Amino acid sequence: MKIIGTGSAVPSKSVSNEMLTGFLNTSDEWISTRTGIRTRRILTNEKLEDLAVDATRAALESAKISPDEVDFFICSNVSNNYVTPSLSAIVQEAVGSHAPCIDLNGACAGFIYSLDFADAYLQTDRAKNILILCAEEPTRFCDWHQRETSVLFGDGAGAVVVTKGDGLQSLHLTASPDKDVIYYKRRLENTPYEHRGVDVDEPLVMQGREVFRMAVESSQKDLDIVMTKAGVTSEQVDYFLLHQANMRIIKAIREQIKQPEEKFPTNIERYGNTSSASIPILLDELSREGKLKQDAILALSAFGAGFVTGAAVMKWNTINYD
Ligand code: ACO
Repeated sequence: MKIIGTGSAVPSKSVSNEMLTGFLNTSDEWISTRTGIRTRRILTNEKLEDLAVDATRAALESAKISPDEVDFFICSNVSNNYVTPSLSAIVQEAVGSHAPCIDLNGACAGFIYSLDFADAYLQTDRAKNILILCAEEPTRFCDWHQRETSVLFGDGAGAVVVTKGDGLQSLHLTASPDKDVIYYKRRLENTPYEHRGVDVDEPLVMQGREVFRMAVESSQKDLDIVMTKAGVTSEQVDYFLLHQANMRIIKAIREQIKQPEEKFPTNIERYGNTSSASIPILLDELSREGKLKQDAILALSAFGAGFVTGAAVMKWNTINYD
């Protein structure tokens, strides 16, 4: 499998830490030192579908394929307005594709899970071109009265087009279920047969310190596994693209791996945690800036609610955005 196109989109509204102090008992100093976040983008007038469509079109355009040439469409998403139809179905109608499509909820690790599904389809010749879209609006599942969670997230979408090729060197997924560490619950209707009393939505609940610990531990282990499988050392990796959850998590992983800061590009300072969209947005930015050279070795690692994790090593093929 190789990536032949990338795209991304973020909301136009940028919200600084200072702006949050108007209604939350927090400070720029607390947020920036504990998380590295300075601003985040938040959906206001646009909808998540708009970002998703923009990111998808940009990925298709850079891959130089038409929507008709997509054979399968995977959308990684935790939550959006529609429970059904899937977000992938909504987006594919908007872009004019007729490929089979499905949503996948792998929380913040959804991009790596999607890469694995796509690889299986390509390896078994069930598809030639696959579109992977990660579109997330985590700002809509936080309780904005709770400073512990609401300051951490931002909205965004990132997409890639993949086809057969020699880019993917190794991939590893894990799940160690612990639903109490991070969860978000939605209300279901009562039936005549089961009355649960007042069934209510529960915005994101997170044990921050536990997530922090699990993230650092799992990411380091996963990266070791994929680098060993791919036969590359950390010195040979050009960039480590880590899920953008917290700058201190990224720093802790970097210190374990003992590689220079320049190898760990970030955008969390500008976008906050955009869940599964964070790695494809970062990938799109680096690729369009020309920072990813032909055959560059990339190590990807993400972790999220579940607790699920995924990592991969890829050899990059440059993309022409003209
Ligand atoms: N502003 C000011 N103070 C705050 C805020 C805030 N926004 N949030 C918490 N505090 C306070 C707490 O109330 C606490 O006060 P106390 O000492 O008086 O009790 C103090 O700051 C310290 O809180 P901690 O939770 O101990 O702070 P910590 O250093 O652990 O940082 C954080 C918290 C940033 C959440 C960190 O634990 C973290 O990043 N964890 C990982 C989170 C993460 O990656 N989530 C992504 C999940 S991925 C997914 O799938 C959704």
